[in-house]
Amino acid sequence: MDAAAMKDEVARAALAHVESGMRLGIGTGSTAEAFIRALAGRVSEGLRIVGVPTSERSAKLCGELGIPLATLEDLPELDLTIDGADEVDARLRLIKGGGGALLREKIVAAASARMLVIADASKKVEHLGAFPLPIEVNGFGVLATTLAIEKASAMLGLSGSIRLRMVGDKPFITDGGHLIIDASFGLIPDPEALSAALHAIPGVVEHGLFLGLASSVLLAGPEGVERLGA
Ligand code: A5P
Repeated sequence: MDAAAMKDEVARAALAHVESGMRLGIGTGSTAEAFIRALAGRVSEGLRIVGVPTSERSAKLCGELGIPLATLEDLPELDLTIDGADEVDARLRLIKGGGGALLREKIVAAASARMLVIADASKKVEHLGAFPLPIEVNGFGVLATTLAIEKASAMLGLSGSIRLRMVGDKPFITDGGHLIIDASFGLIPDPEALSAALHAIPGVVEHGLFLGLASSVLLAGPEGVERLGA
């Protein structure tokens, strides 16, 4: 089974967790988009849900496919968020933000009673950190913030390239108007300590370590869909 087929399979499996009447956080990325397409099929058959998308890109796709949408201002508490991930460990800790939507993804997940992560099995890792950690930063003082990230991570014994994400010759800009720094640490032995250190830096808006947010993970592999967590 190729990667696209695995994403479709796990997206279909996620539908079993969606009930009529739910307020649903809707993630970002290629796996979340497979879920959006599957969800749209159910909505066209009469499933009643309201979605809160985690990015302009997902909002556009949901709109095109006829999924009813609201904002977190309308619905500040959600029942379930379904989203992808770049890495998942055995404790359901995640790296997210490869698509640059980590801030809204984290706000929406934190406003949800449950977060269901959907991914292909290649995203399961023993230790987080092979995927570069996205860190969303304010554009003001970005060099000072980058230096502060380097110093804070070095204090935790972490090293590796720390780079501003670019699109061609221009910085990538998030939906919130911020920049992304990708930090390639290779291995993050203590994600909680790194999270606290990054949050202590004034220019850091948010980072892509999702700790204590995921309730369950569905992983699609050649043998079918494996479930981690509750
Ligand atoms: C978007 O910012 C990310 O957090 C995505 O959820 C993550 O990158 C997974 O994307 P894919 O499903 O495309 O691998």
